[in-house]
Amino acid sequence: MPEVVVDLALDSDLEWCARLMAESDPWLTLGRGFETCLARCRGPEFHVLMARESGQPLGFLLLHPTGVAGSPYIAAIATSASVRGRGIGSMLLDAAEQWIPAARHIFLCVSSFNTRARQLYERRGYTQAGEFPDYVIQGASEILMHKRLVRP
Ligand SMILES: CC(C)(COP(=O)(O)OP(=O)(O)OC[C@H]1O[C@@H](n2cnc3c(N)ncnc32)[C@H](O)[C@@H]1OP(=O)(O)O)[C@@H](O)C(=O)NCCC(=O)NCCS
Repeated sequence: MPEVVVDLALDSDLEWCARLMAESDPWLTLGRGFETCLARCRGPEFHVLMARESGQPLGFLLLHPTGVAGSPYIAAIATSASVRGRGIGSMLLDAAEQWIPAARHIFLCVSSFNTRARQLYERRGYTQAGEFPDYVIQGASEILMHKRLVRP
């Protein structure tokens, strides 16, 4: 059984990440096309974590190490539609939550219409810290979520 591994993306992975983003909701609904997604994925401020199986990309996560009040911020996460529900997103979230060993908090934003992703975050201990109505598009909020990280 091939093992899923999470490690840092190579520059050559970033177009794959941007294509996945551009063809997935919430970015479709938010009107983020491929070029915008690519510019985001290439942002020098981000650590890009990739999940792979036998070398094939399955999903990615963009992590800003100090993005909100000095704590890590997950700016995007997506897995290929064909592998969703297999725990790959949870593996990426596990990796992000452990990526900065000294971090005690972590943040992310979820669109108000993305109820399934929000359920995943709530199951993992994220709670709402703020809401920004009409932030990207009219009629939808971006919800800032926070998790306190427990360290041994
Ligand atoms: C959200 C996402 C990264 C989770 O990855 P995953 O590999 O499916 O994660 P897991 O298998 O660990 O967890 C499954 C949970 O993810 C959520 N989920 C599943 N499919 C989803 C989808 N199409 N969109 C949003 N969330 C989804 C559900 O809560 C699901 O739990 P359920 O099956 O009990 O309903 C993945 O579904 C995805 O890429 N969705 C589209 C992009 C997106 O919404 N990104 C989040 C932006 S804030």
